[in-house]
Order: sequence, then C-alpha cells, then structure tokens
Amino acid sequence: MPWTRERLEDVARNRLGGAKLVVVANREPYLHSFDGEGIRCTTPASGLTTALDPVMRACGGTWVAHGSGDADRVMSDELGRVPVPPDQPAYTLRRVWLTKEEEQGYYYGFANEAFWPLCHIAYARPRFDSDDWAQYRAVNRKFAEAVLEEVESGPAVVFVQDYHFALLPRLLRDARPDLVIVHFWHIPWPNREAFRVCPWQDDILDGLLGNDLLSFHVQDHCNNFLETVDRGIESRIDMERFAVTRNGRTTLVQPHPISIDPDVVAASVERNLDYEARRLRNRLRIGNEKLLVGVDRVDYTKGIAERFRAVDRLLQRHPDLKTTFTFVQVGAPSRVHIPAYRRLNEELSELADEINWRHAAGAWRPIVFLNEQCGARQIYVLDRLAAACVVSSLHDGMNLVAKEFVAARTDGRGVLVLSRFAGAARELLDAVLINPYAIDEFAEALRLALTMPDEEQEQRMARLRQEVATNNVYRWAGMLLSEASKLVQARPAAESRPSIEILA
Ligand code: F6P
Repeated sequence: MPWTRERLEDVARNRLGGAKLVVVANREPYLHSFDGEGIRCTTPASGLTTALDPVMRACGGTWVAHGSGDADRVMSDELGRVPVPPDQPAYTLRRVWLTKEEEQGYYYGFANEAFWPLCHIAYARPRFDSDDWAQYRAVNRKFAEAVLEEVESGPAVVFVQDYHFALLPRLLRDARPDLVIVHFWHIPWPNREAFRVCPWQDDILDGLLGNDLLSFHVQDHCNNFLETVDRGIESRIDMERFAVTRNGRTTLVQPHPISIDPDVVAASVERNLDYEARRLRNRLRIGNEKLLVGVDRVDYTKGIAERFRAVDRLLQRHPDLKTTFTFVQVGAPSRVHIPAYRRLNEELSELADEINWRHAAGAWRPIVFLNEQCGARQIYVLDRLAAACVVSSLHDGMNLVAKEFVAARTDGRGVLVLSRFAGAARELLDAVLINPYAIDEFAEALRLALTMPDEEQEQRMARLRQEVATNNVYRWAGMLLSEASKLVQARPAAESRPSIEILA
C-alpha cells in the first residue's frame, strides 16, 4: 500500500496511543518579519522544514524551534506559541527565544563551525571553541525545558531534528524516562577517525544515546555511527539489530531516507505554467536557449564552484556549445555571519564573472548567478524549464533539490546530474551520476545532459519519478512514526513528571 498523507494521519491518530507529537528543530517552518508598515510571513530555504511541514500538517502536534524572525515575538503568545500555517492552522509552533550570544555560540559557532565541517567531508577544518560549546550546551538545556513544558505530563513522542541537538535526548531522557525519543540526523555521520578530533566526543555520543531511535539517511552513516560508539564510549553494540545499549537502555540505529511530497510540487508547477515561465525568462533575460539549473543554499559543501568550473571546462572543450545554453544558479545566502560563508558568496560571484568574461558572446553569458532566496514556486518553474538540474554536493546527507526537480517534471523530460556523494544518489539511480571533484568528467556529464535524446530522458525520468512517488516524505515519516509507535506500546506508563530541576 503506498504511503499517503491520509495513511500517515492514520498512524499518528491511531497507532501512537494518544501520545502527543513534539518535533524539535532549530529552524522554524514559518518566520515573521517586519516589512515596511506590515508583517510578512515567509518560509525559510531549508530542506528540513520543507519536508517536515507536510508531516506536521498531517499529524498535528507542536514544533519547537528557535524564533528567529524580527516580528516573531509580536505574532506569538506569551509562551511563544503561534498556530501555523497562518492561513490554515494545523499545528502549533512554539518559539524558543535565544540571545545573540546564544545564537552566535550554539548555532553559528558549535553547530555550524564545528559540527557541520566535522560531519561533511568537504575538507573544511572544524573550529572547536569552548565558549561555543558552553552555549551549545546551554541552548540544548533551554530547548529541553521548552519541550518538557510542551509534553506536559502525558505520554509523548519527541522527534528531534539534526546536529543542533546532540545533547537534548540525554537531557530529556534523564528528566522523563518514559518519553519516546526519536532523532533524525539530517547530515552525514563521519567515520571514527574523522570524529575523534572533536574534544567533546564523549558528551555528544552520550547525549545521542539518550534516544530510543537514532536515524540517518543511509546505512553507511549508521555504520559510521556504530563504529564511532564502539571505539569511543562504554556500551554494547548488537550488529544483528543495529542497536547500542548503554547503562541498560537501548538505542536503535536505522536508515530512513527523507523525501518530499511530489504531488505538492507537481500541483504548484502546473498552475499558470506558461505565464510563469515567460515571466521568469524575461526576468532572467534568457532567450530560447537550453537551461541548466542549480538551486542551493550558498554552502561550501554544495560544490557550486566545481559546477561553475565544469561549465567553464565544457565551453573550453566544446566552444560550439556557446550561446546554446545558460546555467542559472540560484544561491540563497546562508549562515552569513560565518566568515567562510560570507566569503563564499563573493568568491562565487567573482568566479561567475571571470567565466562569463572568458566565454561571453554578444549579450550572451554562460552563467546567471542569482545570489538571493527564491520562492518555492519560482524554483519549481525553473526546474520545469530546465534541460537539466545539476546537484554537485561534495558531501550531502540527502539533498532534496534533486527530488524536487524530479517531482517538477510532470512532462516526463529533463536530466538530473547528481553527485555520487549525496545521499540521494543511493535512490536516484537513473540520474547521470558524477564525481564533482573530477571536473573533466563533470563537464562531459553536462554535455551528455544537454544532448541526451528525448527517449532516453523519458525512460530515465519515468523511473526517477516512480522512485520519488513511492519513497515520498509520508513514507519517511510513516516508517519513523511506526517505529515510535512500537516503542510507545512497549513503554510502561510515566514514572516521573517533567522536572526542570533535573536539568539544572
Ligand atoms: O542539511 C542540513 C540542514 O540542517 C537541513 O536539515 C536544513 O534544511 C539546512 O541544513 C538548512 O540550514 P540552516 O537551518 O542552518 O539554514
């Protein structure tokens, strides 16, 4: 039976035994900001929020997140709660307020200057700073307090997201042994050798072993985690069940690849497509040439510079391709308070300028670099117009841009050029798979994509679309909630009540 929104609703309603669902993610799904006289509600450029919002709409419950919009407080009640989505409320967003120092140390500092480069093999050096670590710990405690308030005294499933909250499961477990805690780690887990440079590795592993279930996108990352635990901390590993037992409590470690709702993408792209397509071509001043498209947050793990260099190499090797295509790169600025990210925006603009200067012909330029956030609909229309979408991550947990591209191709055409080092490459086998470091191979893959016969495109795209339709986001959430429901049924009734003091 296929996974649908209705089937997921059924699991949430009937199989969780009345347990409340509380999601914890750093990023909020709806953000309020002042806009002239008024207040604007936007959604962030984040695969995580795009994937989880339809799940929460289906299941209801509470999403606990950092309230980062400048008008968030005005729009929330005294506890930081606001019903969302604003036009059709289906669940509660509980905002946690952080000071600038907390945000700097926990989010920019430890999460994104230490954990992020530690977990991604992109040859960026992690920066371990004890002040950042202190803020990371303090903010994990702050979130634990908010979660404990939200679960109240009843049974609950807490669904923790990502590397911002490695310590949270242990804090919750100590305060409420009865909670079912499931953690999804959206980025890769490195091998043992890479991880052991982290000065606080024991606390992190112990924190994560507060979970009942810890999940990664792919089996390799589960294996890396188990090996890290095996060599790093006192525990017993059961390789038959992929489970770790520490101090009498067991954490299951399982792969569950995240996905999207392809029907939402398809419905969005179909609406006024011709009109939107004309508008977009006019805005980007693109004629009838073919489009290659890239859509990313500007992040050094995404291989955007490699992508530009592959375009450069393609034109050096095949000058006859000049004016036949334009590469449109949407690059939403991200984490710009971190120097490496700020610099990357400038480096990419300079690189695009240099390549454009080298290959320009009349008004034609090979690369259009849109260094801004674009709305989801605009991106889907761009996907739909493209001859190919290029995803060249140097390392990526999954990459939902690849799946969105496939979902947007209701015409059954288009080519996906996909890095072998993105989790999505394990599922999307009919993509043209590349090593983004191998620029010659990458350039040839772009040529292949630009010249692939329609029939081959259609065959590949049909299989890709089948894959995304079957393994959709409802399946991802459904599998995780089904695991959670088994744990709920096996759990004795609450022995302890929320105790903020335990956290002190
Ligand atoms: O890829 C990891 C991740 O945390 C995603 O889960 C999320 O969509 C993305 O990074 C966005 O990051 P941020 O919230 O820091 O902008």
